[in-house]
Amino acid sequence: MCGIFAYLNHLTPKTRKEVLDFLVNGLKRLEYRGYDSAGIAVDSADGRNVSIIKKNGKVQALQDEIYSREADLAFEATADCHVGIAHTRWATHGTPSERNAHPQRSDEDNTFCLVHNGIITNYKDIKLFLTKKGHTFESETDTEIIAKLMMHIYKKNPNDTFQEIVEQCIQQLEGAFALCIKSKLFPGECVATRRGSPLLVAIKTKTRLATDHIPILYGKDLVTSLDFRPHGGTAAETLTAASLMPRTPSTAEFQPMEEDKQVEYFFASDASAVIEHTNRVIFLEDDDVAAVKDGTLSIHRIRRNMDDPHAREITTIKMEIQQIMKGNYSFFMQKEIFEQPESVVNTMRGRVNFDTQSIVLGGIKEYIPEIKRCRRLMLIACGTSYHSAVATRQLLEELTELPVMVELASDFLDRNTPVFRDDVCFFISQSGETADTLMALRYCKNRGALIVGVTNTVGSSICRESHCGVHINAGPEIGVASTKAYTSQFISLVMFGMVMSEDRISLQQRRRDIMKGLQQLEEQIKEVLKLDSKVQELAKDLYQNKSLLIMGRGYNFATCMEGALKVKELTYMHSEGIMAGELKHGPLALVDETMPVIMIVMRDPVYTKCMNALQQVTARQGQPILICEKGDKDTQEFASRVLEVPHTVDCLQGILTVIPLQLLSYHIAVLKGCNVDCPRNLAKSVTVE
Ligand code: AGP
Ligand code: GLU
Repeated sequence: MCGIFAYLNHLTPKTRKEVLDFLVNGLKRLEYRGYDSAGIAVDSADGRNVSIIKKNGKVQALQDEIYSREADLAFEATADCHVGIAHTRWATHGTPSERNAHPQRSDEDNTFCLVHNGIITNYKDIKLFLTKKGHTFESETDTEIIAKLMMHIYKKNPNDTFQEIVEQCIQQLEGAFALCIKSKLFPGECVATRRGSPLLVAIKTKTRLATDHIPILYGKDLVTSLDFRPHGGTAAETLTAASLMPRTPSTAEFQPMEEDKQVEYFFASDASAVIEHTNRVIFLEDDDVAAVKDGTLSIHRIRRNMDDPHAREITTIKMEIQQIMKGNYSFFMQKEIFEQPESVVNTMRGRVNFDTQSIVLGGIKEYIPEIKRCRRLMLIACGTSYHSAVATRQLLEELTELPVMVELASDFLDRNTPVFRDDVCFFISQSGETADTLMALRYCKNRGALIVGVTNTVGSSICRESHCGVHINAGPEIGVASTKAYTSQFISLVMFGMVMSEDRISLQQRRRDIMKGLQQLEEQIKEVLKLDSKVQELAKDLYQNKSLLIMGRGYNFATCMEGALKVKELTYMHSEGIMAGELKHGPLALVDETMPVIMIVMRDPVYTKCMNALQQVTARQGQPILICEKGDKDTQEFASRVLEVPHTVDCLQGILTVIPLQLLSYHIAVLKGCNVDCPRNLAKSVTVE
C-alpha cells in the first residue's frame, strides 16, 4: 500500500542535501499510495553509522524535520557513493506513529535497516522465535521481524554476502512484501526484493547502457531453515549454515556502461517516482533479489521455474514528467477529471478507426477466436474498477451473446466460485496491483481459464500475469479517487464488445451508433465539464447534509454506485447508489422533504420506469436533483434542480452522467476541507487482502 523509494549513487558525487532531496521528492511522488507516516535511512554525517529519521504524518513533516537538522546531517558534504532508503507508510500492523514508521531496524546500531511494503503473515511465529533468541522489539509492526531475522542470519553466517543474507531471510517469510535494505556492514550496497508487492529498479548512466537485459543468477536451495513451531512447543532452531552453489560467472552481471562505472540506481514501488531521473527500468518479479555492489547490479533467484525467462529486460517507459505534475489545478483529482476529454481519446488511439468503422485491440487480437468459443465471460474487480464492469455488462451481453458475470474480487474468492477451462476471466484494475484482484486472477489461472487483464499500469503484476490484455492508456492517475481510469476502463470494455461483434450482421446498425457515440465523446465530455460552476453551486447546498442518495437504473445504475463511492471516499458523507427499481422495496422509506436525492433519468429504454421512480420520490415530498438529457423539458418539470448532459447512445451515456458526480464529490470535499487527493484511511494501491 505504501511507497518505497531508494537511491544509490556510485562514483557520481552528490551532496548530502541532494541525496536527501531525492529521497523526499521520491516519497512525495509516491505519497498517493499510502500516507500516514514517513521515514528515511542514510549514512550518518561521519559515514560510520546509519541515521534514521522518521516522522508521523505526511512527507512534508518529514521534510521539515530533515531541514531542521541541516547542520547535523551535513547538507553540504559530498559523497561519491551512498545508499539512502525511504518509505511512506499505510499502516497495517500497529498504529501510525514514529515508532512504527519505516525504516525498521535490526538493533540499536542500525545494522540492517529496511523499508517494507505489504504484510508478513507469519510474523508472529518469527517474532516468538526471535524473542526466544534474545531479540527485543520496539515497534508493533510485522516489518521489524524482517530486520531482526536478517541480523540473526548474519550472526550465524558472518561470511555471507548481503544478498545471501536477504535470500535466506525471505525464504522464511510468508505474505506479501517489497523490501529495500541498507546495512552498515555493507556500505555502498543495496539489496531489494519482492513477493506480491510491486518494485522496480531504475538505472541512470551518463553514456549509453551496455545491455538491455540482465541475466538471472540462480543458486541452489539454501539449506537454512528455521523451525518456528507456531502452535505450541518451543521455538527450536534448526538453522544450519547456508551453502550456496557458486553462481554463474560474474560476466552475467550488469555492467552499467562500457567505459566507466558511474551509475545511479533508484528502487521504487512505481515508475512515477523515478521518471524525473530516468526512464530505464526493470520490473522485478516475485522472489527476485536485486543487489547492487560496487556499482554493479545483479539479479538472483534461488531456483528457476521452468517457464521463467533467463533475464530481466530493461524497459524504457514512456511517461512524461508533466503527466505526474498538478499543473494549474489545485488537486490531482481535479486535473484528472478535466483530463477526460483527452484520456478517452488516448484509450481509443490506434485502436478505433472511425473511417473504416473498425476496432483492433492489439493485446488480445490473437485470442479473440478462443474468447468467442468460451462458455462465459467473468469480469472481476474491486471498487471503481468493478463499477466499470457493472456499467458495461449489459452491452457485453448484447454484443457477445455470452453470459456475463460481474464479480467483486474479494467476494469471488470467499465463495470459492467454480471456474472452468472454457471461462474467460477479465481482471480490471487501474493499478494492476490490487491484492484481491490479483489473488482472484491466480485462482482462475490455476483452474485453466483464459486471463485477460485490463489495467492502466504497464508492467504491473496483473499485466504480467495475464495471458493477454488491454492497456487503458488513461495516463498516470495520482488522486486516490479514481476518475479518468473509470471512463477509460468503460471504453476499453465497450471496444472489446465491438471487436467481438464485428461480423454480426444483425448488429451493424447498433455498432454504427456506438461508433458515432465514441467519436463524439471528446466534445461531449468537454460540454459536461462546463457544468463545473453549476455543480459547485449545488455542492454548496449539499455539503452540510449527512446523506445523499443517488438513484437510477439500466445503463446508469453503475453511475449511481460510482457517484456514491466518490461521495463517500472524498467527503466522508453517507451516500448510497440505489437501483431505482428497488426503491419501493425499501429505500423509499428514506425519502422525505429533507433527504437529498439525485436521480439520473435518460431517454433510454428504461425512461418510463425511471419516471415512475421520480414520481414516487416527489409524491413523498422529495426534492430530486435531476441529471437528464439536454433540453428534455418534460422530465425537468419534476425536478428541483437540473444538470443537463448531452445525449449519446444509451450504452455510453454512463460516461457522461458520471462526470457531474465526480465534480460534485470533488467540490463537496473542498468545501468540507477534506484532503481531496489523499482521503483518510485510503490508499491508491490496495496491495493487501
Ligand atoms: C476508487 O475511487 C477507489 N480508490 C477504489 O475503489 C479502487 O477503484 C479500488 O481499490 C480498485 O483499485 P484498482 O482499480 O487499482 O484495482
Ligand atoms: N505491514 C507494514 C506495516 O504496517 C507495511 C505497511 C505498508 O505497506 O505501508 O508497517
